[in-house]
Amino acid sequence: MISSTFIPSAYSQSIENGGFSWSAPSNIALVKYWGKKDNQIPANPSVSFTLNNCKTITELAFVKKENDGNFSFDLLFEGKPKEDFKPKIQKFFERIETYCPFLKEYHFTINTQNTFPHSSGIASSASGMGALAMNLMSLEKELNPDMTEEYFLQKASFLARLGSGSACRSIKGNMVVWGNQKNIEGSSDLFGIEYPYAVHENFKNYQDTILLVDKGEKQVSSTVGHDLMHNHPFAEQRFAQAHENLDKLKVIFENGNLEEFIKIVESEALTLHAMMMTSMPYFILMKPNTLEIINAIWKFRNETNIPVCFTLDAGANVHVLYPENVKDSVLTFIKSELVSFCQNSQYICDQIGAGAVEV
Ligand code: PMV
Repeated sequence: MISSTFIPSAYSQSIENGGFSWSAPSNIALVKYWGKKDNQIPANPSVSFTLNNCKTITELAFVKKENDGNFSFDLLFEGKPKEDFKPKIQKFFERIETYCPFLKEYHFTINTQNTFPHSSGIASSASGMGALAMNLMSLEKELNPDMTEEYFLQKASFLARLGSGSACRSIKGNMVVWGNQKNIEGSSDLFGIEYPYAVHENFKNYQDTILLVDKGEKQVSSTVGHDLMHNHPFAEQRFAQAHENLDKLKVIFENGNLEEFIKIVESEALTLHAMMMTSMPYFILMKPNTLEIINAIWKFRNETNIPVCFTLDAGANVHVLYPENVKDSVLTFIKSELVSFCQNSQYICDQIGAGAVEV
């Protein structure tokens, strides 16, 4: 499939004003996307668990205006004007205009809020762009009611990707693959797809407890981070490894082997950080408490044989991943041994969810 698939032909309907509201969740990558080509095309495929509780809820109100060649929108965060979010939306509109030619014909009011604490170090870009893309597709569906459900979702993911790469994995499904992978039918660099094969019971309701180790501003923006993979000495090996790890996970998703799952997931997290430590300039995004937590998880796992593991984003927070049937013992462990390493003892309990929902 090519990007021009998402350039609409003339719309059959017109609409003067209206509004929609969508929530979209955050997601946590198991095989990480790190490194991209032009137009947010990933350098390697990734797969993620969709989260359930960490989400953005965005209302989009629109009213027809004269097309004066400009985008026009107000941006509210929790009901209050938020000027510093506007450049990101402006840039997003510029990137997607070819695919959403109606954008300059409306004035938009975008009102957005997150279910997780602001500046908790949890990236709101995936859920935020996911929710906005769903709203824009709802509007496009009014203009073109014949649109299929499949097209709606694919294009929503396609648009979200242009806003923030990993946002394309926040549209639909418990597990989402983004990026061409030979053995995964339908996978695409252009949008995320719901993982299309059998998944073992072990992964049903998989838990993710997010330990907020450092809530400060990101030391490195993901844009800068992805850029560091250009001319990175280990880039090619890393991209090849992501394909191999995704192939291995495909087998694991089917047979439910949690020991093998843990090996891939923890190795992916550490590799992501290794890429940052070995780029030029180099960064260490973990904090001392990130390492304390990792060591405590390893010790607990060795002593109890409970299949709990960690993954990391491009920051210091730790996502603790475990199956639902060990939830009670892992939560007891987290509360007694890990929470003291969190900033203000903060953590968020989440689990696999199904994707965006109209509200
Ligand atoms: O979507 P971006 O450009 O913010 O990149 C996200 C990158 C990681 O979170 C580190 C990995 C991933 O696949 O989500």
